Amino acid sequence: MAFQKPKGTQDLLPGTVERWQFLESKAREVCRRFMYGEIRTPIFEATELFQRGVGETTDIVEKEMYTFEDKGGRSMTLRPEGTAGVVRAYVENKLYGDPDITKLYYIGPMFRYEQPQAGRYRQFHQFGIEAFGSSDPGLDAEVIALGHQFYKEIGLQGFTLEINSVGTPAIRAAFREELLAFLAPKKDLLCKDCRSRMERNPLRVLDCKVDQEHFAGAPSLLDHLDAECADHFDKVQSYLKEMNIPYDINPKLVRGLDYYTHTAFEFKAAGIGSIDTIGGGGRYNGLVSDVGGPEQTGVGFGLGLERVLLVLENQGAELPAATKPEVYFVALGEAAERRAVSLLNAVREKGIAAEKDYGGRKMKAQLKSADRLAAKYAAILGDDELLRGEIVLKNLATGEQEAVALDKLADRLLEGQ
Ligand code: HAM
Repeated sequence: MAFQKPKGTQDLLPGTVERWQFLESKAREVCRRFMYGEIRTPIFEATELFQRGVGETTDIVEKEMYTFEDKGGRSMTLRPEGTAGVVRAYVENKLYGDPDITKLYYIGPMFRYEQPQAGRYRQFHQFGIEAFGSSDPGLDAEVIALGHQFYKEIGLQGFTLEINSVGTPAIRAAFREELLAFLAPKKDLLCKDCRSRMERNPLRVLDCKVDQEHFAGAPSLLDHLDAECADHFDKVQSYLKEMNIPYDINPKLVRGLDYYTHTAFEFKAAGIGSIDTIGGGGRYNGLVSDVGGPEQTGVGFGLGLERVLLVLENQGAELPAATKPEVYFVALGEAAERRAVSLLNAVREKGIAAEKDYGGRKMKAQLKSADRLAAKYAAILGDDELLRGEIVLKNLATGEQEAVALDKLADRLLEGQ
């Protein structure tokens, strides 16, 4: 029986993987300018880290984690998101000892046991950032600005930003009671997910896609913010305005993870069926201490790279493709073959992408391969050319041919690039 990849995973092959490299290099480039350094943490961590970090009542922890017992009997989990592991590393490596803000980014796979569909996978990839050590709303705005610049620079069109303040745990607890009092008489009208969310995490009910008709007149968390939270939220907005970053306030935005305080935000874009969230994040002032660290604040985001790519592809964006060789060597006869090997190596040493035929095929077959690979030139070498110390360079687009001295080939190719 032939094996197949696990459900909800993807093989990224040459021809497509260049798109990933493009997104990754843009992410790194934007992070460089914003002064975020890369962090690489393990793909698996102690299960308890996610239970405490992400939250016991979240869908992620309740239903979606890839958890296993290792041979030492410890419960381990493939990371379902990046923040908890980065916070763990921040505490374990005592990065909080740095008097300056600690700014980190990561790019890598995450794992959630979800029902796969377009834009939803069991292994997916996030580009994420986390900034620790300041409660300044300017840092929330910087995090959002970095995400905004990334999307802009990869050429994404028409994406939007929604922001909200989810206050503090104490404010949410008081609001929760009021919200439950509003929802209780409507309980039977709500969908199954909402009824179960009412028990576990009622704030998420308001975010439901199907039950909106029942939520007219629902209380809003934004009306319950205390002066400090309201001031923080105002300042985040004023910084966004200062940077000309457009946003909408969505008072129903609560996100699917428990750790947020103050700012929560999502980037959205149309084009992946019913899914429109392409990235999200926010501030998490209690998380570092929740996982055993000091009282330090944090703020960050995670952007799903599969989703970004799907939207870009739907928008017909021009994306990088597989490397095309500058030159394809066509060698005829044993002596030419030997010389072609050394020429190939020499031009590659000069930084030129080059390919040759292996298998001693006829000229026509070799030229066909050169065409298939979309080489710019075919460099044809037979006994006659060898005797003259030359090679025939054929421009495959125009059909033009010229004889080039063997020792001048690399220079000639570099000139034509
Ligand atoms: P999240 O909203 O759970 O937040 O995920 C962030 C992004 O990851 C989503 O907006 C989406 O683009 C992508 N994503 C999530 N699940 C899947 C999936 N099954 N398939 C494909 N893409 C997916 C977090 O993970 C937080 N750690 C973000 C954060 C960082 N908050 C603060 N710092």
